[in-house]
Amino acid sequence: AAAEKDGYKHFMLKEIHEQPRAVRDTLRGKFFAGKVVLSDLRLQPNEISDIKRIILVACGTSWHAAMVGKYYLEKYTRIPTEVDIASEYRYRQKIIDSGTLVIPVSQSGETADTLAALKEAKTMGAKVLCICNVMDSSIPRESHGVLYTNAGPEIGVASTKAFTTQLAALYLMTLYLAQERNQLTPEQVADKIVDLEAIPAAMESVLQDGERYARFAERYHNYTDFLFLGRSYNLPIALEGALKLKEISYIHAEGYASGEMKHGPIALIDENMPVVVIATPSEVHEKVLSNMEEVMARKGRVIAISTNSTAVEAVADTFIVPEVPEEFSPMVNVIPTQFIAYYISDFKGCDVDQPRNLAKSVTVE
Ligand code: G6P
Repeated sequence: AAAEKDGYKHFMLKEIHEQPRAVRDTLRGKFFAGKVVLSDLRLQPNEISDIKRIILVACGTSWHAAMVGKYYLEKYTRIPTEVDIASEYRYRQKIIDSGTLVIPVSQSGETADTLAALKEAKTMGAKVLCICNVMDSSIPRESHGVLYTNAGPEIGVASTKAFTTQLAALYLMTLYLAQERNQLTPEQVADKIVDLEAIPAAMESVLQDGERYARFAERYHNYTDFLFLGRSYNLPIALEGALKLKEISYIHAEGYASGEMKHGPIALIDENMPVVVIATPSEVHEKVLSNMEEVMARKGRVIAISTNSTAVEAVADTFIVPEVPEEFSPMVNVIPTQFIAYYISDFKGCDVDQPRNLAKSVTVE
């Protein structure tokens, strides 16, 4: 078993470290002569121009990836896009016509609610293109087309490399649709491909800081509640960071849109509630900084994920990440949140790879 873990203590740690490789494998073979080519989607040109609405459906960590996907799709394709939890979507009074594209996102391809939601949508006339990690699993078999993430087998119950590769796949699908609908010029597509291909190297530099997170875990494992704040592309990362901590360390954690802080969670803040703030450069950076100041003014303990240590003085802890274009920052910023959860779980002696009550794939409702 030690050999299977490549010398890492747990599968989760191995899979965290595999992320640059996994993202590279997701991108491999998708670009030809400066164009995005996704032949397994099997989309005809008229089908691409007919798309009027997109609905992303998923559960758990895949749902958080789908939330980032909405930002990508709406920004570049200008197609109205919704994200829904599969267990909600399947029982709602759905509005679907032939211009509706449904995109199920699933690591395993076997999640019962996601599979049921897709079958319903397909029966009602939607086009279904999935993003999935497991070849020939149920979800790709039921879909009209597929984009595989190529993360390789994910053993740890808490999803890590599946998530970052889903983000890369959602970005690829977005570029492809925008390119085919002539919303991005070939030059713009080529530039974005260059930026995206630089992300695995940025991820690698975060992976070298593992020891810092181990020391952080020693100091923070006794807290009983954490808040994670983020906005825009990094709101889903705040939700994902909180989910990861809950799942494997059994510490209560909430992820929140930092702009919503004043509408409730600020009442919880005191010195006993560490607040992890995703504070990398963005169009709303100033607003994030002022949210952090509000937390500190209430004696909250801020842990910043940031590209530099000086912009956010007086915070309790800062984890530095490299600066990348804002839209790709979730792929880099999620790694510190994975490390926080991993090292706290390990420090507490929890079963990192098989947390209590959780299953890798929820195949019954
Ligand atoms: C379970 C797993 C999660 C996963 C979710 C959705 O809850 O523990 O890690 O995100 O199912 O799974 P899927 O395979 O559809 O992505």
